[in-house]
Amino acid sequence: MSRFHPLTVTDVRRETRDAIVVTLAPGDDDRPAFDFIQGQYLTFRRDFDGQELRRCYSICSGLDDGTLRVGIKRVEGGAFSNWANDNVKPGDVMEAMPPQGRFYGETEPDSGAHYLAFAGGSGITPILSIIRTTLARDPDSRCTLVYANRAVSTIMFREELEDLKNSYLGRLSILHILETEAQEIDLFTGRIDAEKLDGLFSGWIDAEGIDRVYICGPEPMMITIRDALRARRMEESRIRLELFKSDQPGRLAQAMLARTGSDTAEIEASVTLDGRTQTFRMARGVPLLDAARAHDIDAPFSCKAGVCSTCRARITEGEAEMMNNNALEDHEVRDGYVLTCQCLPLTDKIAVTYDI
Ligand SMILES: Cc1cc2nc3c(=O)[nH]c(=O)nc-3n(C[C@H](O)[C@H](O)[C@H](O)COP(=O)(O)OP(=O)(O)OC[C@H]3O[C@@H](n4cnc5c(N)ncnc54)[C@H](O)[C@@H]3O)c2cc1C
Ligand code: FES
Repeated sequence: MSRFHPLTVTDVRRETRDAIVVTLAPGDDDRPAFDFIQGQYLTFRRDFDGQELRRCYSICSGLDDGTLRVGIKRVEGGAFSNWANDNVKPGDVMEAMPPQGRFYGETEPDSGAHYLAFAGGSGITPILSIIRTTLARDPDSRCTLVYANRAVSTIMFREELEDLKNSYLGRLSILHILETEAQEIDLFTGRIDAEKLDGLFSGWIDAEGIDRVYICGPEPMMITIRDALRARRMEESRIRLELFKSDQPGRLAQAMLARTGSDTAEIEASVTLDGRTQTFRMARGVPLLDAARAHDIDAPFSCKAGVCSTCRARITEGEAEMMNNNALEDHEVRDGYVLTCQCLPLTDKIAVTYDI
């Protein structure tokens, strides 16, 4: 399941000074594996001087576009994003896992639904995929995009969004919020904070008429928007969040700490992957993913920070606690799903399956 496949780069477009859009083509045999759902991401891997790095990039194509595209924005000092911006060219081969992620909601034809999306910087990538797909597949729907950037020159997909607005007249509204550039309307200048959201919800967006909200951008912005929606009594089930990176340090595993000292140092772990179950002993306090990989199990992972959910598995026996979870919904945790990169077993025996 965690197998990587070669994807040929068929086009590289410089989107802004600091971002590229890469079009990729799987080989004929791999094509079905790269069917995706709007809002999903690809995990790439590359060897940097003997060290393998894995990074996620969201697919920005719509389902009906017939392309597989990702947008990669430079992160200052970042290894993969700068390498990609400086080096990737048509004809290159990049290795990626099949699409993953659950940042989407069903599109319902004839729903008449109104979707609201907030994107910050490169957070536009999965949202573009969702908007393109929704407008094409649900002809009665409307989308409002609030897109935050530093300046006009850093707006990714600016022209593509304008074209979409013209193609779907009256169905896509875009509000650009620019941090450092004055605009005709004061409300649209600055950062998205609670005050700005008050202004948007009182004059520009009717929160009560919104059926679903998608949010992807810097973590503080996402939290502020989620809180503003909660304050307006938006049901949690209507809010979808995708985090690219967490600024929060890992939470301490409280139950784990409470038990320290009274338990045996080792536990028994069973891991099922691709129909095969392997059982091994592992030290308590080590993340299950690390222990599995140390036993030559090719368990999938990418961020190793509890953000992406590439390492998701389901507990079939025993109990565990996550140090950090920015990817699984509460109901998934209740159903036994766990991010294995953050998973510290609490019981003397733990069994998980990746085959879900
Ligand atoms: C689900 C998901 C989807 C994503 N989709 C996209 C997308 O569509 N587009 C996009 O552009 N990004 C996306 N990302 C983010 C992307 O995966 C990478 O995290 C991002 O490109 C940075 O990777 P990097 O290798 O360039 O940076 P890294 O090398 O990981 O560095 C990140 C930061 O850490 C600092 N740093 C690195 N090493 C050290 C060190 N030893 N000590 C101190 N500081 C250090 C760097 O200076 C930099 O500021 C997504 C992430 C997730 C989880
Ligand atoms: S590898 Fe990203 S959440 Fe575990």
